[in-house]
Amino acid sequence: MPPYRKLGPLPPKRHIAHRREGGYRGEGIYYEEVVTTAGFGRAYSICYHLRPPTRVRNVEAAGTLPIETSTEFELRHHHIRTNDFQSEGDVVTGRLPLLVNDDVIIARCRPALPQSELYRNATADEVIFVHQGQGTLQTMFGVVPFRAFDYVVIPRCTTYRLEFDHAVRPDLLVIEATGTVGIPPRYLNPDGQLRMGAPYSERDLHGPTEVSVIDKEEDVPVLIKDGERLTRYTLAHHPFDVVGWDGMDYPFTFNADDFEPITGKVHQPPPVHQTFEAPGFVICTFAPRMLDTHPDAIKVPYAHSNVQADEVLYYVRGHFGSRRGVDRASITLHPRGIPHGPHPGTIVASREMTRTDELAVMIDTVRPLALTRHALEWDDPQYPYSWLE
Ligand SMILES: [Fe+2]
Repeated sequence: MPPYRKLGPLPPKRHIAHRREGGYRGEGIYYEEVVTTAGFGRAYSICYHLRPPTRVRNVEAAGTLPIETSTEFELRHHHIRTNDFQSEGDVVTGRLPLLVNDDVIIARCRPALPQSELYRNATADEVIFVHQGQGTLQTMFGVVPFRAFDYVVIPRCTTYRLEFDHAVRPDLLVIEATGTVGIPPRYLNPDGQLRMGAPYSERDLHGPTEVSVIDKEEDVPVLIKDGERLTRYTLAHHPFDVVGWDGMDYPFTFNADDFEPITGKVHQPPPVHQTFEAPGFVICTFAPRMLDTHPDAIKVPYAHSNVQADEVLYYVRGHFGSRRGVDRASITLHPRGIPHGPHPGTIVASREMTRTDELAVMIDTVRPLALTRHALEWDDPQYPYSWLE
């Protein structure tokens, strides 16, 4: 969870009246809402609204976003090229899921349209990696600006609008987590602060800096997703009417270029790149970094089998030292149980290198991932044989 944050006016104690002049129905208070992350046992925030957040005027079914997985008859490596797709729809309806299991949905999205209505994911935390684009995330907690190479972390039940600047076409990797996305516990000291030596610090996590109150008594639709189902809630007022809040549940950004890579005399194992985690998977950042310094160091990763793990790499920027044939926005899936390693020639090619400019996002899952129809359409069936070349 990001560190405790506090914006706008708050009463001196939780769960007591936050008084104001007049107000909704002349009741003379702001209306408290407690937003939690896992029942009532984990991180939470307390928000104060102009009006009760429960004023729903209409509830209607709004269709589904079904995910079609494919049956694979063999276990093999995959290389899914995603640099040329055109998507339709907006940042919600335009998502193309590629790899899924019960813990995570990994999708690509190039929204063609502005987000048509407010949106809220009721059952998944969302991490939106901004490969290209910039803009603002608008929520009841305030506005969070984002830019290229940001991870935009949006806790479940955060109603939001993502607004993109027109100058650059947005290109996104969208990760939906069934469990709560958080900071790896080993990065935290016993006092809950990011440890010295962790690959980022609190200063690198950017939440809202001021509240942005919308005081509008009007019908506002909110599209709510839970699993594949969509429901449209029409609220009787704009839900971004929070005058103050505090806590540890709020959206924030972290820029991949702010990751502080840990390097060594010889090759460091993948967990040094870990950035976030959620039940069933981790997110890692392969950021530009110095390479290993031992005079005989092999500077690309050793061959290995993924044991109880499926390994997904999304190639963002730069030259990826251990792979040949991957492009911008390529996705490789090296599944459980079969070895992969550096492509032929890359060990020798890296011998004289002292640093790498690669930027990639890795998602390692505990449970096997299924490919969707889109993923198989863009998959290179020759990839398993690419280590022979
Ligand atoms: Fe690997």
